[in-house]
Parts: sequence; C-alpha cells; structure tokens
Amino acid sequence: MAKGTSITDASTHMSESHYQTDSRRILVTSALPNANGSIHLGHLLEHIQTDIWVRFQRMCGNECIYVCADDTHGAATMLRAEELGTTPEELIDDVRLEHEQDFKDFLISHDNYYSTHSEENREYSSLIYERLKSAGKILTREVEQLYDPEREIFLADRFIVGGCPRCKSEGQYGDNCEVCGATYDATDLINPVSKLSGAVPVLRSSAHFFFALSEFKDFLKSWTRSGTLHDQVANKLAEWLDEGLQDWDISRDAPYFGFEIPGETAKFFYVWLDAPIGYMASFKRYCETTGINFDEWWQPDSSCEIHHFIGKDIINFHALFWPAMLEAAGFRTPTRIHAHGFITVDGQKMSKSRGTFINARTYLDHLGPEYLRYYFATKLSDSIDDLDINLEDFVQRVNSDLVGKVVNIASRCAGFVKKQGGHLAASCDNPMIVGFRAQAAEIAQAYEEGNVGKAIRQIMAMADQANQFIADKAPWQMAKEEGRDAEVLSVCTDGINAFRMLVTYLKPILPTLAEKSEAFLNVSPLLWSDLDELLVDHDINKFKPLMSRIEQKDVDAMVEAGKSSIDNETSTEAADQAMDNTAENNTIEFDDFAKLDLRIAKIEKAEHVEGADKLLKLTLDIGTGQRQVFAGIKAAYQPDDIVGRLTVMVTNLAPRKMRFGVSEGMVLAAGPGGQDLFLLSPDSGAEPGMEVK
Ligand code: 2FM
Ligand code: ZN
Repeated sequence: MAKGTSITDASTHMSESHYQTDSRRILVTSALPNANGSIHLGHLLEHIQTDIWVRFQRMCGNECIYVCADDTHGAATMLRAEELGTTPEELIDDVRLEHEQDFKDFLISHDNYYSTHSEENREYSSLIYERLKSAGKILTREVEQLYDPEREIFLADRFIVGGCPRCKSEGQYGDNCEVCGATYDATDLINPVSKLSGAVPVLRSSAHFFFALSEFKDFLKSWTRSGTLHDQVANKLAEWLDEGLQDWDISRDAPYFGFEIPGETAKFFYVWLDAPIGYMASFKRYCETTGINFDEWWQPDSSCEIHHFIGKDIINFHALFWPAMLEAAGFRTPTRIHAHGFITVDGQKMSKSRGTFINARTYLDHLGPEYLRYYFATKLSDSIDDLDINLEDFVQRVNSDLVGKVVNIASRCAGFVKKQGGHLAASCDNPMIVGFRAQAAEIAQAYEEGNVGKAIRQIMAMADQANQFIADKAPWQMAKEEGRDAEVLSVCTDGINAFRMLVTYLKPILPTLAEKSEAFLNVSPLLWSDLDELLVDHDINKFKPLMSRIEQKDVDAMVEAGKSSIDNETSTEAADQAMDNTAENNTIEFDDFAKLDLRIAKIEKAEHVEGADKLLKLTLDIGTGQRQVFAGIKAAYQPDDIVGRLTVMVTNLAPRKMRFGVSEGMVLAAGPGGQDLFLLSPDSGAEPGMEVK
C-alpha cells in the first residue's frame, strides 16, 4: 500500500494473520484438451476453475506454477488430419495456436502451454515405460480385435457401428448401446461395419503390452484415502477397487499417431499413457526455460505439491492408472485430484440445436471473458455434481452483482472524493470494514477448497452491506449542505475501502476488474495480505467505468451464432462440433470438391422420428439402391408433401451414427434453417442416380 494503515493498529484488536504465510510450492494442471477440436464451455469451466485457484494461491504469496498442453496423440488425430488433407503435425500445430489464443483471451494464466507431441514427453514416456518394464510391471498378451481390411487399421470402438446384441437397434457403437444402455464388446455387434470404409471388419490378433495395474490394488486403496480425493470420489473408486482392477492395455498397433514404444516395431504408446505424462513434459519444458529444478518437484519425497484439475469422466485415469504408474516408476504421486461435474444448460446436455453448445471463440466474439469467469465462479463447489447454467440467470447475475453492487460502490463514492481533491481521509474506523476483513480466513478457506460459490455469496453479502451503508449515509445529500465536506469524505473513504476489499476478494476471479481498480485506487497489484491494510490519506485517480452491463442482444447473437442449421441431433454432436470448427474458414481445392459424390435422389418415404425435434427420416432412391438419411427439415416440410419428389444428395459421406439410427448421406437444402429451408430440386427430366456435376 502506498499509504496504508494497518487495520489491526487502526481499529481492531485482531492480530492473528488470516492468510497463508508459509510459502507453498505448487504445480497445477488442467486436463489436456484434445487436439482435434475447439475449446468450448466445458473446457472453459475447468480452466477457469483452475485459474481461480492458481491466482488465489499466487495472491497468497505461494509459488504456483500452472501448466497445460494439447493432448495430441491417437487414431482420431490421424484420421482427422487425413480427412483435412494435412499431416497430424500440421493439424496439431494449428489447433494449438487456436487453443492458446482462446485461453489467453479468457485470462487463463498458464505458465506454459505445450503439446504432448514433444521431445520432453517422448523422453518421460519412454523413461517411465522402461522403469515399469525393469520392475516387471509390463506384460505381453495377445489381443483379438476388429480390423478394417480395406484401411488396414485396427478399429477402436467408436469406429465400428452395428446392431445392438441386446435390443437389436441399428447403428450402435462398438462399446455400448445408446438405445438400451447395454455394454458389450465390439465383436458382439450384429453386422458390424467400419465407419472408416464401410467394410466388414475381420477379427485379427496381435501382441499388446499391459501395465500390471492389478498388482497395485493395496497401494491404490490407501492412496485414494490419503486426502488426495474428495470423499465422494474416493467412495466411487472404492467400488471399482473392490470389484477388482484389470491390467491396463498401454499399446496400440500401427498405423497410429503417437510415440513408438522403445525396442518394438510398429507398436505405439496408447494416447492415455502419454497424456498425463504430458503434465510432466510441459513442466519440464517450463523448467528448461526458467532454470527450475524438475527433480525437486517430482522426486518421491518432494515437499512440493502437485494438483490436477479434471472432469469426473477421467477420474480413473488420474486416480488409478496415473498414481500407480508414478509409484511404480519411482516418481512422487499427486497431492490432490480436484474433480468437477459437467455443465448442463437448463438441466440438459449442451446442445448445438439450442445454441447452448458454445465454443470459446463464439462467446468471445460477443461477450467479455470476465462475465463468464464470474458466472462459472458462482457455480463452483468442491463436489462432482453437475453444474447447471442458464443464460437468463447469467445476464441477471452478472449485471446485478458486479455492475449493480460491486462497481456501484466505487462509482457512487469516487466523484465526491475527486471533488475534494482526490485525496482520501486520514482514517477509516468503520466497524463494517473491520467486519469485512474478519471474513478473510473463511473466504480463503473457501477458495482453497474450491468452494468459490460460497466465497461469492459471502462477498456479495458484504457488497450489499456496503451499498446499504452508502444509501443510509446519502453523501449526495450531505454534499448539498454547507460544512459537511469532512463527513462526505469520511463516508466515501469508507466506501472506497469497502470496494478495495471486495475487489481483493474477487481478484482471483476477475483479474481485469482488479487491474482497472488498482489503477483507479492508485495502488500496486493487490495481494491477500493487503486485506490487513487500510487505504487512507492517499490520492486516488479519476474514476473510469470499470465494467459495463451485459446486453441481452449480445447473448442472443451469441446463441444464434452457436446454432447450426441442420444435422444437430447426432449423439456425437460435441465431438463433431469441435471438429467442424477446426476446419472453419478454410477454403477447399477443386480436388476436395471433386471428392463429393452428388446424385439425384428420389424421396421414397418421409417419416417423423420419435423424440427428434428437427429431423425427418428419409428413404431415398439413388438409382443403385436405397439410402436412409436423417435430415433437419422437419420445421419446413410435412412428410407427405415431399414423398415422390427429387432432390440432390451427397451419397459418399461416411455413414454417421445418430441417436435414432445411421444416416447414410445428406440431402441438400438452402436457406437459414427452421421453417426457411428449401430442398434443392433438379429440372424435369432428371432421374434418380444421375450424377450432379
Ligand atoms: O479427456 C480428455 O479430453 C483428455 N484429452 C484429457 C487428458 S488429461 C491428461 F491426462 F492428459
Ligand atoms: Zn441396445
């Protein structure tokens, strides 16, 4: 504080410190986003949650290093690159730039953002594998898997579709049925086909390497109960541990985009082996650029802390496989795994059709990052329950809390201080301020435990109190009366001190608001320890608007931008959306266009689809046979009105599994969507099956 008075000297008898004083050394990570899709609200929730925790630690004077990376390996990256006519390396480089920019624009304060396709990661993945092998923890077993004889590739479950062995629904993936919920092996599917080529897969056997996870049951039983996990999570894991742990298949056969296993030919590390090692590799890279000693952080007896922030869907990788691997390879294990639930919007999964599947860039094109940071923060707790959001509530909450309450305190007081020379009174002995400071320990604990929503409730109660104080004193009335300048200055000095404390409390969530407030208050960057000080006998600067209200029209525009016109009811919509956006803004070459097989198709049958808001199920005659297509044209057409008509169809799209069955192509329509959608039709004389050129 340029000119400060200790709050304990000035007005209270409190003397103990309410913030962490022993500096901790903490390494923090968020789960590594996949390199084959864009950053969306789900990633943002996690990175914002992590960033708030990290910024809080730094404000407390702890050394807190935050690293992340893109998760680049796997068959999906390889196939996606093929589809785009590029190399996996080029694809992951482009996506990484996009991801880094998105996170930067959301004020995520990574110290290093790296890639799992790095030399450091190759080095540590190989080292850990070699150590596991020397310890006798790598086993070789023959595995029989479905293989695409046309594409010459083993097929992961998501690349195989067929009939569910239980309910017989068609178009189900190789691992579970979305209609009846059955789980099974891909080999049990009825009439399986490869999504890559449409070929019938064959069974083929090959040698795989397994990590002997089953030998770590006792270690994991105690590790998961040693304060590393929330009880809710530890209880869940206890069920799995009691059911018995399977050894873990850590290899994949060529072709695969990843690291080749040392000493083997055409065998690669499974992406989930090198992904968490990517945390180490990103940190290693940071150590190389800063001179920090890597081993001090990762040796078994290290006093440094390691915290992973993840979604509840990947708990087994982080709380079973990862600690067991680290233990077996002679590294320390994580201090804590902070797991969170998923985002729902109005109680439902994020959805493209409702415009609630929102990418980072779509949001940023319309709204500022701190609004979302704040709104997510109000929802954060230490549990793994899902977090429900609602866009009306978003607007109302941000406008009312931040603009209506917090910023309002400063804007109501600043002008009166300025009129008196911009210099704050020499003392501030308002019990309200003492009360605000007394809450520091409780708020710090809430941040530490991830209960940010609770911290906010407390902070906003203080904001209400401060506004009430100013309203009761009404400095604008006093200012009209002769001889009350000192009183006005005193009230406004109290108000400005209240504001300063609230901004300090909110700084981990709202770094830009804090920075602008620091400029207004004419103080150096606020730390948690500044809560012990008062701002008195001090010059402040001219008040400039710190934050504006969210306009509903901007939210509406964002939702519109997030909607896609057709084909929005696929069961894999999240992945597809992410992929669609990677290709956004790219022009295509003529050769790409020539890959489309466009044909005249006759609509033989058109039917409503139970449970689908937008889709009609079409049976199309394409000259050489029939195709089934789910088209997003329900709002524009009655089924009976289109039976018999000719239209244009893309016939060589890979079959696409949707919630209601497999869609085997796409019909072409023009218009903005909804009711305004017009199927293309050829002139008379065209016949089903004719090529469209
Ligand atoms: O689930 C995912 O999106 C993974 N890419 C997360 C990896 S986290 C870590 F283990 F690398
Ligand atoms: Zn089924």
